[in-house]
Amino acid sequence: MAAAGKLSVSSVIIMVMVVVLAATISNPVSADPDLLQDVCVADLNSAVKMNGFACKANFTATDFFFEGIAKPGLTNNSMGSLVTLANVMKIPGLNTLGVSMARIDYAPGGLNPPHTHPRATEIIFVLEGELDVGFITTANVLVPKSLKKGDVYVFPKSLVHFQKNNGKVPAAVIAAFNSQLQGTQVIATTLFAATPPVPDNVLAMAFQIGNKEVDKIKSKFAPKS
Ligand SMILES: *[C@@H]1O[C@H](CO)[C@@H](O)[C@H](O)[C@H]1NC(C)=O
Ligand SMILES: *[C@@H]1O[C@H](CO)[C@@H](O)[C@H](O)[C@H]1NC(C)=O
Repeated sequence: MAAAGKLSVSSVIIMVMVVVLAATISNPVSADPDLLQDVCVADLNSAVKMNGFACKANFTATDFFFEGIAKPGLTNNSMGSLVTLANVMKIPGLNTLGVSMARIDYAPGGLNPPHTHPRATEIIFVLEGELDVGFITTANVLVPKSLKKGDVYVFPKSLVHFQKNNGKVPAAVIAAFNSQLQGTQVIATTLFAATPPVPDNVLAMAFQIGNKEVDKIKSKFAPKS
């Protein structure tokens, strides 16, 4: 009895030690690395190549300010949607801070087509309208949801996701990312409008279609010159 009690106490101690040790030695970085100073306002014109951007010598409040997502963006394009980014490229003060935002507008019927953000989880807040959204796990499970004004939804880092406005009125969301520069790969564009082009025989085999169909899709996504 006493031996059993002693054994289980030491087992618990060992388990706790293992957990603490694991938490101490593994340093999971879920997004952009931490900053090492108050601010490092991006010098977007610096020739210095590094992880992020070199810091400007001086900065002003303007470097932390952006008006560009106050108004709806124009959605008169083939997808009927427009993403307006509010990231380090627009707000240099975001450099090294690990966050950014975007506004996405959707015409009735508009689609923000399937895409991924390699460096960030995204959380959206529905400003206006209604959206049918979803993300797809690495096990190919679709996790769909219908959203209305005021709702919040999350797209986990790197997973393919989309938003579709199946309503009769325009919709809009405000998005936040845990990266200063989330990065976006739109699946169709990445595959069918890369430069130089992804070879037809690669796409034909991957999608189990003919070269003619590949060329047809490529022509629709041809980069605008
Ligand atoms: C930064 O500001 C200081 C103080 O106002 C000034 O002396 C210096 O020349 C500025 N540096 C640059 C690169 O603008
Ligand atoms: C979208 O609308 C704007 C303003 O009405 C116009 O300037 C622009 O050329 C249009 N774009 C397309 C692709 O039709």
